Amino acid sequence: MSVRPILSIGDPELRVPAGEVDPDDIAGERVQGVIDDLIDTMRDANGAGLAATQIGERLRIAVMEVTDNPRYPYKPRIPLTVAINPVIDFLDDELVEINEGCLSVPLRGNVERHVNIRVRYLDRDGIPHDETMRGLTAGTWQHECDHLDGVLFIDRVGDRTTLSTWDEFEQHHRDAFIERITAFVERVGS
Ligand code: NI
Repeated sequence: MSVRPILSIGDPELRVPAGEVDPDDIAGERVQGVIDDLIDTMRDANGAGLAATQIGERLRIAVMEVTDNPRYPYKPRIPLTVAINPVIDFLDDELVEINEGCLSVPLRGNVERHVNIRVRYLDRDGIPHDETMRGLTAGTWQHECDHLDGVLFIDRVGDRTTLSTWDEFEQHHRDAFIERITAFVERVGS
């Protein structure tokens, strides 16, 4: 188990779509080692999620966890989740604009995400899951699954005037965003 370097935007590896994990390989040392490294690296960086492509591994594996996250204080909790070969289906057309950040990108910006999604994935024991996610948690899933297709949130920023550094976000945009997103989280419950 180790904290690995996180690749930054511009690194070609971030743009390579990851390959499916053979379910027969999940129990093996290699896949379990990547999962352990993802968890350690995500926690070390105070991330809400991390995809294998971000540490240079071309495997469809993402981890997510939100406890009391200083990087994203408005985010509802997500228990530690390991998603192998995740597939997302949008359940309806409801969208929400979320101000996102990413451990591989030094900016934040607004992205429209689906509010209601179905996720299917295998966990680290190879057990299949089929669940419904809502709200900001659904947004986190969409962000992490994008990484596995070589897509970064910045590709999906519709209004580029919303792009800002973390410092400028804190200074100029944080309060308005937190007010809007807190009302949203209260409405959808996630
Ligand atoms: Ni990211």
